[in-house]
Amino acid sequence: MARRYKSNLTWDDVTPEHLYLNRRQIMAGSGALIGAGLIGGQARAQEALEPNTWEEITTYNNYYEFGTGKDDPARNAGSLTTSPWSVEIDGLVDNPGTYSFEDIMSEVEIEERIYRFRCVEAWSMVIPWNGFELADLLNRVGVQDGARYVAFQTANRPEEMPGLRVPVLEWPYREGLRLDEAMHPLTIMATGIYGRDIPNQNGAPMRLVVPWKYGFKSIKSIVRITLTEEEPHASWNVANPREYGFYSNVNPNVSHPRWSQASERRIGGGLFARREPTLMFNGYEEEVASLYEGMDLEANF
Ligand code: MTE
Repeated sequence: MARRYKSNLTWDDVTPEHLYLNRRQIMAGSGALIGAGLIGGQARAQEALEPNTWEEITTYNNYYEFGTGKDDPARNAGSLTTSPWSVEIDGLVDNPGTYSFEDIMSEVEIEERIYRFRCVEAWSMVIPWNGFELADLLNRVGVQDGARYVAFQTANRPEEMPGLRVPVLEWPYREGLRLDEAMHPLTIMATGIYGRDIPNQNGAPMRLVVPWKYGFKSIKSIVRITLTEEEPHASWNVANPREYGFYSNVNPNVSHPRWSQASERRIGGGLFARREPTLMFNGYEEEVASLYEGMDLEANF
């Protein structure tokens, strides 16, 4: 059996949402104890990684095909038809073709991954995704020797996506990873949140999640995956290469030209709301730093 990656976050097991909520209330009630140092570092670490609620995750996000406001995706993405769905996989692969969502799901192993999510706009959430390793899918279609990058494309449906009328980005939304990033066991295709199907506004039926990179690399509602030799176009990088690099690794030491990336605001922190220091590679340094050994991360931001 393939080696299964365990996240470096605190919980290996699925915890039902109502237990998270209970814990949140308990934690809120014990704030004074924490302040007095009566609850140790372990409890603090857990508190920091407590998943956001379903409500927070599904009503505050970016999906510009449905508008640029944070609540636009939740309001407008209902119009997206996600069934039937298929993904074209082409380029430097042994078995190119159009694969139905059901066929893909019948082949892969769905797991839960609780990941910290860091948006380039300096806010963050913790999201309990359900999904499968992208490497699983790529290995099944067979990556050919010359392939060095993976390009991704979102659905392009003006009749269902009102935001496409506005030329904020070059449509369809596109993203790319280096092949070793795509094959890394932390990189997943997410198909669910909290054990439910992923909602349209979060990228149904299948979206990428690359937890050590800024959120915009995690492209939604994917219809095409292409293995390439050349670095692929990425929508934000094309729109503004000075502000959004191809790599987009979370890095507190390299500021965005218009704001610092040294800290972040946790969404829904409630009583615990405060800016937190941003961690190198979003806290996944131990797992991914080796991918960039010898690279100048200021030049390759
Ligand atoms: N994918 C598409 N197709 N269109 C988008 O506008 N926005 C990106 C990313 N993927 C976006 C996208 C940005 S900027 C962020 S922060 C994340 O999606 C937010 O989505 P999430 O909160 O559901 O992870």
